[in-house]
Amino acid sequence: MRILGIETSCDETAVAVIEAANPPAWGKEIKILSNVVSSQVKLHAKYGGVVPSLAAREHVKNIRHVFKLGLKEAKIKNFGKEIDYIAVTRGPGLGPSLLIGLTFARALAWKYDKQLIGVSHLEGHIYSNWLSPSQEISKNNIFPVLNLIVSGGHTELVLMKGHGKYKVIGETLDDAVGEAFDKVARLLGLGYPGGPAISKTAEKGNPGAYPLPSPMIRSKNYNFSYSGLKTAALYLLRDLNIKKPSPKIAADVAASFQKAAIDVLVVKTVKAAQEYKVKSVFLSGGVSANKELRKRLTEETKKIAVKYSQPEIEYTGDNAAMIAAAGYFSSKNKKARDLSWDKIEMDANLGF
Ligand code: KG4
Ligand code: ZN
Repeated sequence: MRILGIETSCDETAVAVIEAANPPAWGKEIKILSNVVSSQVKLHAKYGGVVPSLAAREHVKNIRHVFKLGLKEAKIKNFGKEIDYIAVTRGPGLGPSLLIGLTFARALAWKYDKQLIGVSHLEGHIYSNWLSPSQEISKNNIFPVLNLIVSGGHTELVLMKGHGKYKVIGETLDDAVGEAFDKVARLLGLGYPGGPAISKTAEKGNPGAYPLPSPMIRSKNYNFSYSGLKTAALYLLRDLNIKKPSPKIAADVAASFQKAAIDVLVVKTVKAAQEYKVKSVFLSGGVSANKELRKRLTEETKKIAVKYSQPEIEYTGDNAAMIAAAGYFSSKNKKARDLSWDKIEMDANLGF
């Protein structure tokens, strides 16, 4: 069957078509026929972050074109005949942005008489791992999975006992880790989005140059906190008494910050993986593009003999192929009522 995915929860307008076995099966069967992402990053960069009203306006401008490209790339000529389901992000995210994708999807489902699957953006990130599963995890014996979801809005540890069966065991109490990368990049004058800029700058720096805190690293629970680390970076730059850091200082601060931010993610993930006796650890979300985090988790999960998966770089950021994949695996659990275009609702704070 073929599923059309639509994603507009933040500042990316995205449409994808995937093809997969019917009924849903494990592993390599997912074929990505198209995956079109139109990013608004340049527009928001001058404000140092996403401006919700501007983001929604851009989605309105772009969605029809992105949709047409998504169909063209997938060589879909007859939408009514060739597409089986539509999957759309219904939350969490920015309300005005979510509404554009959701309204577009509802109109399509109504016009073509298709079932509509409302998908959680976070579930989408988890399923980015299913878009290109490694040999090891393409076998069925992976549950329970511990998911570390790290993005601009979330930092979560989610236990997954099977498809659609989730339990949140830890989350951030304040800022998300991606948000901390963005804010510290801004302090260093590295621009927006901060994650890629910090990790690139950090490559030339010494992670031991400045001792920055890894908040809650020794707490007894699996929650996170990133606002203190961001403030510590601010005070560090103030104490160094420099307005514009030299490339050497910027690299050292970026590397020290990145180490502090990642240490706590790795320590808590490994601890939770052992306590909950999981078979696998899956990384996902925009921050999963971070090379250092990928390297550390690959090494640490090997040490505790737990299977490990991380999405291919092209599927780490927001995209619609992951939304279609999440829709694919949840379609069989949904009642017909939940798949009707006029019943689906936007929820900006949707949880698991
Ligand atoms: O999942 P995503 O694309 O959007 C949200 O759902 O939030 O995540 C975006 C976040 C941003 O904060 C961005 O700075 C961060 O992911 N990010 C990175 C890297 N690439 C993107 N953070 C650290 N290292 C990276 N290489
Ligand atoms: Zn995301």
